[in-house]
Amino acid sequence: MRSHYCGQLNEARIGETVSLCGWVHRRRDHGGVIFVDLRDRDGLCQVVFDPDRADTFAQAETLRNEFVVRVKGLVRARPEGTVNPDLPSGAIEVLAHELEILSVARTPAFQLDEHASVSEDVRLRHRYIDLRRPEMIDRLRFRSKVCNSIRNYLDDNGFLDIETPILTRATPEGARDYLVPSRTHPGEFFALPQSPQLFKQILMVAGMDRYYQIAKCFRDEDLRADRQPEFTQIDIETSFMDEAGIMAVAENMIRQIFQRHLDVDLGEFPRMTWGEAMRRFGSDKPDLRIDLEFTDIADLMQGVDFKVFAGPANDPDSRVVALRVPGGASLSRKEIDDYTRFVGIYGAKGLAWIKVNDLAAGIEGLQSPIIKFMPEDVVKQVLDRLQVASGDIIFFGADKAGIVNEAIGALRLKVAADLGQVKPGWAPLWVVDFPMFERDKEGNLNSLHHPFTAPSCTPEALRDSPDKALSRAYDMVLNGTELGGGSIRINQPQMQQAVFDLLGIGEEEAQEKFGFLLNALSSGCPPHGGLAFGLDRLIMLMTGASSIREVIAFPKTQSAACPLTDAPGPVAAKQLRELNIRLREQPGTASTD
Ligand code: AMO
Ligand code: AMP
Repeated sequence: MRSHYCGQLNEARIGETVSLCGWVHRRRDHGGVIFVDLRDRDGLCQVVFDPDRADTFAQAETLRNEFVVRVKGLVRARPEGTVNPDLPSGAIEVLAHELEILSVARTPAFQLDEHASVSEDVRLRHRYIDLRRPEMIDRLRFRSKVCNSIRNYLDDNGFLDIETPILTRATPEGARDYLVPSRTHPGEFFALPQSPQLFKQILMVAGMDRYYQIAKCFRDEDLRADRQPEFTQIDIETSFMDEAGIMAVAENMIRQIFQRHLDVDLGEFPRMTWGEAMRRFGSDKPDLRIDLEFTDIADLMQGVDFKVFAGPANDPDSRVVALRVPGGASLSRKEIDDYTRFVGIYGAKGLAWIKVNDLAAGIEGLQSPIIKFMPEDVVKQVLDRLQVASGDIIFFGADKAGIVNEAIGALRLKVAADLGQVKPGWAPLWVVDFPMFERDKEGNLNSLHHPFTAPSCTPEALRDSPDKALSRAYDMVLNGTELGGGSIRINQPQMQQAVFDLLGIGEEEAQEKFGFLLNALSSGCPPHGGLAFGLDRLIMLMTGASSIREVIAFPKTQSAACPLTDAPGPVAAKQLRELNIRLREQPGTASTD
């Protein structure tokens, strides 16, 4: 049907007869001549209908936006003065000889260039229109090309692409499961995989040696700009390789992709321990494009009269930190109040600050709601430790360490963005030496990664001091986003049992849930490890998109629904009966218990 894509036409084709297929992007009637911008996946091309060919011209008069047509015509140079330098095909036009209307279109829900003013819900409901926008096509094309490079890289390195089941058992990655009822096993459910974690480990036990998959994962968790309930991982596992080897393979892959697709050299990725990242940035995924850092000052605050600081300063589970922001003294009272409200979202009870208006003027040169509570020499020590300069503002956080890290960590990102202190470019790093566990509010241990991550100590040492134990896990962070993460896995049943015990998963429960894994570990399990990258996040960062929804053809909304298909939806009573399911309450009726 077609000889060329619209966007491929240029001066080189002048004099040729071509066939184009595409959508009417715009129709303009100009004094007896009709111009149509014809659009396809590759771009736009101007088609001219002149009244000499009366039939074709009459047909062209009926064209409306988004009609699908086929045009046969002659490529010719545009008259002088009408060349469009912004368009690859801007020097030529196609004089139409024949026009075939392949499909008429009702008025679209929104015009392609009006997408910014319509809600995301409308864009998703009419995704077939939204995806016609060149920006969207370009992102999906980019995604396709990057996936192809990833496959080639992994294939060249001996990785086998192996599919793993979607209907499976729960994989603990920390989110809720999506469940699928089984008709053939009444009352029983499959879980959709939160990741292929267990299967890829079993593939190592089976001797596959190097596995990869571009795998769909499903997690029922609170959604954000970089989270979807259904997302894609570049999932990797290898045998007989240590952390250094796995990280090198993964780092090389990311470096190659950036080089090939963005012409960017990411260089060698620095490594930072989890402890250092938390201490300096309050985050396990620090954005190193921002220079602002935390400074601990608890030791200086232990004796002050100001309880807000002295309390946390004397509590080993708390932190008192200062964040020096160069140039921040120009912030207005209102801006500081806004930041105070902002840190409140993360549980901070306030946001103390000192403006350094004139360092040379000593205490007189400072402005602050809190220095009156502190001895002058303490204030001076704080200023010395932070190496302040005139024009700086210092923000303070004092609370349980978790709250300070989150609140001041988020403040660091926000202030830097607001004051234009985020450096351009790319800042990748590896974060290593994570703790094995974290404690929840009830004091129970939870895996920081997943329960199959190997600790860097013996099972005995792990049982003795689980809070101190570090894991052999690593995360790749890019510009403050966790791009991927993985670990060396446990390959001994005793160690796996020790971890399950500490997590409060008894032997019986472990057998019931993960018996197949424990059996596999006892059946000749090589040392192995791997990692998974978030493909959607990678593409989001590489394309500069604001959300992963912009790089997924059919994403879900913030409430985990699909407006295009109206999923999830109710099902017929018959279907529920077949599945042996009775709803506790009819949708829309209030619960009675
Ligand atoms: P993890 O849970 O860290 O590890 O996930 C790996 C990467 O997947 C991406 N990711 C997500 N992307 C979009 N939406 C989500 N809801 C979402 N959740 C995670 C992130 C993350 O870094 N099985 C382990 C990997 C391993 O140990 O090999 C795992 O799934 O970019
Ligand atoms: P207050 O004595 O509660 O009025 O607080 C005095 C100053 O300390 C105010 O600027 C508060 O915003 C700030 N502040 C209060 N609680 C904290 C906290 N936990 N961390 C940092 N600053 C705080």
